[in-house]
Amino acid sequence: MALPPGPPLPPSAQAVLWALRPIPFMRACRRRYGPAFTVRLAGLGEHVFLGDPADIRAVFTGDHEILRAGEANTLLASVLGRRSVLMLLDGSEHLARRRLMLPPFRGRLERYAGMIAGLTEEEVARWPAGRPLELRPRMQALTMEIILRVVFGMAEPGRLDALRAQVTALLRLAASPAAMLPWVRRDLGGASPWARLQAGRARVEAMLAEEVRARRASPATAGEDPLSVLALARGEDGRPLPEDDLASELLMLVIAGHETTATALAWACERLARHPRALARLAAEAAGGGGHAYADAVARETLRVRSPLSIVARRLAAPLEMAGHDLPAGTIVAPCLFLAHRDPGRFPEPEAFRPERFLEGGAHTAAWVPFGGGTRHCLGAGFALLEMRVVLTAVARRATLAPVGARGERPRRRAIVLAPARGGRVVLGPRR
Ligand code: HEM
Repeated sequence: MALPPGPPLPPSAQAVLWALRPIPFMRACRRRYGPAFTVRLAGLGEHVFLGDPADIRAVFTGDHEILRAGEANTLLASVLGRRSVLMLLDGSEHLARRRLMLPPFRGRLERYAGMIAGLTEEEVARWPAGRPLELRPRMQALTMEIILRVVFGMAEPGRLDALRAQVTALLRLAASPAAMLPWVRRDLGGASPWARLQAGRARVEAMLAEEVRARRASPATAGEDPLSVLALARGEDGRPLPEDDLASELLMLVIAGHETTATALAWACERLARHPRALARLAAEAAGGGGHAYADAVARETLRVRSPLSIVARRLAAPLEMAGHDLPAGTIVAPCLFLAHRDPGRFPEPEAFRPERFLEGGAHTAAWVPFGGGTRHCLGAGFALLEMRVVLTAVARRATLAPVGARGERPRRRAIVLAPARGGRVVLGPRR
């Protein structure tokens, strides 16, 4: 059995390149070795990157008993703990939990649009005009508010403020290297960053479990928000999920959905500020009130050209033939969203920001995989697309965006996402 070729550098050097220069590293490997190549990452093992959309499809639609995503999500495990949450489960356990979690995130999502637009208006009204504004932190504040108010249905100010403070503190701890590096996971009598992360997680989970208890205690007054729907749902065995387990799942939704969506929104504004024609078309659509096709295309094109996640991962539970190679059990295969989105056959002029390509339809959509695919397809994809569309429409209705600096921002790693290196800076101007 032979893995695809890959750089001959020591695994420690490859890990440094992957951490600090992921995009030049992926591009160089693609140029030199073709769409399937092996990257050896110190501490994380051998990863077979797959850049060909057909191979990526094969992973997403392949046997999920062999292609194990939960086992490969080791970085998330450090933040979510060793609990059995959706993202860390595999096989039939994963499917059963997914069936339970999915209903509030599919179907009538439009009902959330009004509230998301209102929260965006409030947020944009606080942004200063006429000087550089770093959008990523602003978008993080907004997506946090959307999760707490729309997804969790929190309305009572005292509880809302308390949960916001605890979740924000937890995410800050989770973004530190202590959450990522196995060798700094030490308790040290409760004083280490790792111990504080665990304590922070326990506090947030306790507050979420309290919310679940409250909705269950008065089902008649519980709202239509996903938290209430999940609190009242029953599993295949006819029983509701225990409070603590549901609290862990709710925290997982924050971790999966918050940074990804905020990053995508910051990128969208950064790209729009540098593409005035696209921004003008979006503003005209926003002012006209006649549909939202262009806003949706802007969201999709942003997710293509600046996908927040560059790869996803599966650990092979058995040998598997993939991309013309016999891969041994234990290998990690990594569908490379970054490379799939740059396939020139599917996306002509792949580096150009051209939302129109998503209005024209065509074969390219099969290679568009910012939300992954198959049985692990992003649970929040519909919600995230709605959120992006509504937020971008509200921003374009209210303000003009001008770029800061002559060159577009480079992607830089922030925990698991690739974010704008300078925070997504724009200068806001009034819209007449
Ligand atoms: C633009 C924003 C987002 C992007 C780019 C994104 C991307 C992804 C990707 C690529 C996966 C697949 C991972 C894999 O194959 O291993 C995924 C899974 C997931 N996402 Fe998202 N996501 C976004 C927003 C959200 C939101 C808002 C939520 C929740 C409300 C969410 C919840 C999840 C969950 C629960 C999974 C795991 C699904 C499973 O394992 O069955 N995501 N996401």
